Amino acid sequence: MSNGKKILVLNGPNLNMLGFREQTIYGSTTLDEIEKKLLVKANETQSQVIFMQSNHEGELVDIIQQHRQDVDGIIINAAAYTHTSIAIRDALIAVKKPVIEVHLSNIYQRETFRHHSMIAEIALGQICGLGWIGYILAFEAMICYLSAE
Ligand code: DQA
Repeated sequence: MSNGKKILVLNGPNLNMLGFREQTIYGSTTLDEIEKKLLVKANETQSQVIFMQSNHEGELVDIIQQHRQDVDGIIINAAAYTHTSIAIRDALIAVKKPVIEVHLSNIYQRETFRHHSMIAEIALGQICGLGWIGYILAFEAMICYLSAE
């Protein structure tokens, strides 16, 4: 498949700690390893991935805004900000790109404060509970969605 699409994959706070943090919940795969797997997938589909992480809400908003002209879609794991951030949700709405939300853990099996996502209502869809595989599925889904547009 040749599509030339460019996808921003954005990761929120504490995801730089993957592989070390709460392994029973998040698995042992590091964020660097997830990026490498996505780069392989991007190569296979002749698309591009911009993979970023920040622990800061405003920086996540800045990254979304900065890429408003040069990406076709956004995959986001906003981590804890998923449940609280109107600013990230507003930024995603403002840039008018298709959004897919990813979570490594199944947020609906966890504490009730994790059951609500500020992003879910404005996303094309959400993938959660499948660990790092969710990123690959989200990437494939985004490529498929963009190619069908
Ligand atoms: C998470 C779920 C969030 O509730 C949590 O705050 C995270 C990671 C996940 O990928 O499962 O940091 O987004």
